[in-house]
Amino acid sequence: MGELPVLLRVLNGERVDPPPVWIMRQAGRYLPEYRELRTRAKSFLDFCYSPALATEAVMQPLRRFPLDAAILFSDILVVPHALGRKVWFVEGEGPRLEPLIEEDVWNFDDPIAAIQRLSPVYETVERIKGQLNANVALIGFCGGPWTVATYMLQGEGGEKDRARRTIYQRASDTGFLLSFLAEVSAQHLAEQVKAGAQCVQIFESWSEALPEPAFEQVILKPTTQLVKRLRALGANVPIIGFPRGSGALLGRYARETGVTALGVDFQTPAAFAREQAPANMPLQGNLDPQLLIAGGAALERGVRQVLDAFRGSPHIFNLGHGITPNATPENVAELVRLVKGA
Ligand code: CP3
Repeated sequence: MGELPVLLRVLNGERVDPPPVWIMRQAGRYLPEYRELRTRAKSFLDFCYSPALATEAVMQPLRRFPLDAAILFSDILVVPHALGRKVWFVEGEGPRLEPLIEEDVWNFDDPIAAIQRLSPVYETVERIKGQLNANVALIGFCGGPWTVATYMLQGEGGEKDRARRTIYQRASDTGFLLSFLAEVSAQHLAEQVKAGAQCVQIFESWSEALPEPAFEQVILKPTTQLVKRLRALGANVPIIGFPRGSGALLGRYARETGVTALGVDFQTPAAFAREQAPANMPLQGNLDPQLLIAGGAALERGVRQVLDAFRGSPHIFNLGHGITPNATPENVAELVRLVKGA
């Protein structure tokens, strides 16, 4: 039997020097070969639902950089799409959905049918698994219930005012929606694990701007339900929770939801995350993605600061938010070199 991938050792609570490294959105538009591949599908969703194209997208960054993990290529919005909502992507602007907020009754297709529609995603996981070196961990993912709900309510990224208002104006509908998303997301992750994902990440990208009682209702409660349900479905893999922008409420997320490890955004001091999270909980983060555009001495200093700030307890090196399309592959190569040489 081979060695456990170093990322999984850290997720099991071991401190490893130098720390394992991967990059949120490591497959994407900053790579010229991704932009070329992307032209082979009509739409972004077609691309996500093509196991051949999605698998190739996953492998591209791994050929360039000695990363410690691969992440499934898909999107958090395949879940509302599979539930029968209209989802499309406007070039240069981002995702659009028909806002649920304007409908009197909220109806969704049943979770079993949704999961069946997502079978190309699980086939992608199987294909990646077949191509990956044993020392590279495979990460599955889903959006956090509130982040996905926000898109469904608001219809787009950017302002979340309407979605937030809905928490108060349609409290019981919102509770139903979040609980429904927690259930479907747990099944979606369980299928990824069955197909070969060795750990999963919950991208709760929109945890900011919520008063504590709302945070309890739309983040803590549905996430706890999702984690419990994933365990009940027999998936025992480590779970990385990434509540981006949760600020002072980060500790409650770390202590109360049942996640294994904590993604830390770039504004949150490592020491604050360390003090708030349960003892020895693995932390992931948190370089500013802008440094992958700036490069040079600033990048080198930034990488060292992150390494130092997280030293002494289990750490996975990553950005504190997804990589941007204008990052350069050369700076990513330099980042990985700096981390590995530390
Ligand atoms: O490499 C990876 O990390 C895996 C793939 C992945 C994508 N999206 C591919 C993608 C992952 C993990 C996501 C998660 C995701 N999707 C999140 C959470 C993480 C975060 O960044 O906060 C969110 C909020 C979404 C919704 C979404 N999908 C957005 C905001 C966008 C970008 C819109 C834009 O044009 O900038 C997408 C589209 C998307 N998802 C792209 C990629 C590579 C770019 C579109 C394209 O290639 O045509």
